[in-house]
Amino acid sequence: MPPSTALTRDAGIEVPLLCGAMFPCSNPELVAAVSEAGGLGVVQPLSLTYVHGHDFREGLRLIRRLTAKPIGMNALIEQSSRAYRQRMERWVAIALEEDVRFFVTSLGDPHWVVERVSAAGGVVYHDVTERKWAEKGLAGGVRGLVAVNDRAGGHVGSRSAEVLLEELLPLELPVVCAGGIGTAEDFARVLRLGYAGAQLGTRFIATPECRASEAYKRGIVRATERDIVLTERLTGVPVAVIDTPSVRRLGTRAGPIARFLLRRRRTKRWMRTIYGLRSLWSLKRGLLRDSPERDYWQAGRSVAGINGIEPAAGIVHRFAAAWRNSAAA
Ligand SMILES: Cc1cc2nc3c(=O)[nH]c(=O)nc-3n(C[C@H](O)[C@H](O)[C@H](O)COP(=O)(O)O)c2cc1C
Repeated sequence: MPPSTALTRDAGIEVPLLCGAMFPCSNPELVAAVSEAGGLGVVQPLSLTYVHGHDFREGLRLIRRLTAKPIGMNALIEQSSRAYRQRMERWVAIALEEDVRFFVTSLGDPHWVVERVSAAGGVVYHDVTERKWAEKGLAGGVRGLVAVNDRAGGHVGSRSAEVLLEELLPLELPVVCAGGIGTAEDFARVLRLGYAGAQLGTRFIATPECRASEAYKRGIVRATERDIVLTERLTGVPVAVIDTPSVRRLGTRAGPIARFLLRRRRTKRWMRTIYGLRSLWSLKRGLLRDSPERDYWQAGRSVAGINGIEPAAGIVHRFAAAWRNSAAA
């Protein structure tokens, strides 16, 4: 019998490996390639529609034409505006109609997503950076957790993979490790630690299937761990990016007025929305352009183990072999 984990059983996949949602990097071809190889590609709805230009349902159908295997969807459920919430509700409903059965919720209270997804026989895992948010997820009925650690790409956590697992395991939910996994050995190691799987982002940008520019991909391959810095200038909270000339020129801290408004309860949400809209636009622009002079390239510390641009299927198969060998040992 091939080895399995709670994640492979919950998601109906062979390899406990997610290609995490990435704005702006999740294009349909990348999502499909990871799923087709036995992992699970997770759709980022804004990336699918706003960056890659697909109607949401048609984008899902395009992925379905590329693979018949399961795919996932990320639902960012922060209550920043009513219009956004309504749009997310529509996306979740469409995804369920199109047979998506695995959802990863980020931020906010996941209970409304859990309600709808469970009624359709699906499962929800919730992104967390510490136990406090995991308890909120548990109260909302999620089936598992995605633990975002201090080495992740995108919004980083504050705990190491080891500390976070220790904090979360007593909740008795499957925990997926997100952050810092660049090599097959890293993958096998976190599964040995007790994680039910891993969510990778940065590793999958350096693939032919990802539509990011060649310069961005080469930037990831070239970067060492020391080239990853955290900037607050994109969203108001720390995001991991490659230290390019544009990052050095703009600095990594939010300006004093923005910091003040981000700290106050009444203006925080409003500031986040402004930051969010601005960063959506500038990240979209930076995805396809070959210009580190002006753009942000998000990447995590897993760059340390990424030495080449490699097809997504090759990565999934290599990682699966390391996991199976380690499980058999
Ligand atoms: C370019 C980029 C964009 C990301 N965008 C999102 C996003 O839109 N939503 C989300 O939940 N996570 C996002 N993430 C986090 C990933 O889904 C994943 O958890 C993370 O990349 C894991 O760390 P790694 O990059 O070290 O593999 C993003 C990560 C990267 C690198």
